[in-house]
Amino acid sequence: MTSLTIRRPDDWHLHLRDGDMLRGVLPETARDFARAIIMPNLVPPVVTAKDAAAYRDRIMAALPKGSDFQPLMTLYLTETTDPADVAAAYADGLINAVKLYPAGATTNSASGVKDITAVMPVLEKMAQIGLPMCVHGEVTDADVDIFDREAVFIDTKLNPLRQRLPELRIVMEHVTTKDGIDYITAADQNLAGTITTHHLIINRNHLLVGGIKPHYYCLPVAKREEHRLALRKAATSGDSRFFLGTDSAPHTDPNKLCDCGCAGVFSATNTMACLAHVFEQDGALENLESFASLNGPAYYGLPVNDATLTLTKHDTAVNFPAKIETGEGPVTLFDPGFALFWSTS
Ligand code: NCD
Ligand code: ZN
Repeated sequence: MTSLTIRRPDDWHLHLRDGDMLRGVLPETARDFARAIIMPNLVPPVVTAKDAAAYRDRIMAALPKGSDFQPLMTLYLTETTDPADVAAAYADGLINAVKLYPAGATTNSASGVKDITAVMPVLEKMAQIGLPMCVHGEVTDADVDIFDREAVFIDTKLNPLRQRLPELRIVMEHVTTKDGIDYITAADQNLAGTITTHHLIINRNHLLVGGIKPHYYCLPVAKREEHRLALRKAATSGDSRFFLGTDSAPHTDPNKLCDCGCAGVFSATNTMACLAHVFEQDGALENLESFASLNGPAYYGLPVNDATLTLTKHDTAVNFPAKIETGEGPVTLFDPGFALFWSTS
């Protein structure tokens, strides 16, 4: 039996939803994580400081008794977002980031940004006050292949924006390509990337070969093996520009398993066990703490957690539930496709 104690990890990209789903999934994250950046893509989205305060209250009310989990709130950027409202929310300590969704890029992104020039006043204000922007980095043009949408976004949207506003602190969310990794690695400042647990483990064959696997369908969609390997290398390297954002995104089984299934992988419950497996496999357990617990706070300008998490490796496989039952229905847990031997405490 081996064990490893690290500073308590944070999740820098998490979907908690609302209502019964929130109550069902929140304990899964709060068990291992101290904090998480909470995605604002509710219906309707979390757009104003007032929306974020109300959502934060609902999250706090849904926490298990005794939990000291802290939600780090974000605002959903729209073309009518008021720079003054954003700045006030940041000054009040209510939000830690603003999220840019290109309109139509993913689940509940209809109110997102069509034209980046329309939100420049907000982005300029954010650059001035040091408030990070999280970005879903995919173009939405119908004529761009879904597997190319991240690389095209970097060339046609992200790079021009960074040229125009180099002071803006950007987090490229859920990087899925070698192109994304290379772009972040080449940047000298104000750019970092989150990587999900599942993109370190699955490639597009896992999604499509031998029958379609709806529970592996997420956005950005998993790419070729060479991209997965580039993500693995970046995540396990200890490079401070890469950190964990699980993008754990619960949808009920009926909403995944239908004619037009939702995008999203739910991985909150077994993420740390999966990561310990991945880092151990790559001979990089010593960098797990950087990826999950140190690099994120450093980029966001927050202290690392005082509390710790202990990972213990067992001789026999650890059982995780196949599904989490929520008041909205069952949510299937990410299946890494191999047995897990690590538990957390
Ligand atoms: C997310 C969701 O369901 O809200 N889905 C996903 O596949 N990742 C949205 C997102 O982060 O793109
Ligand atoms: Zn997401």
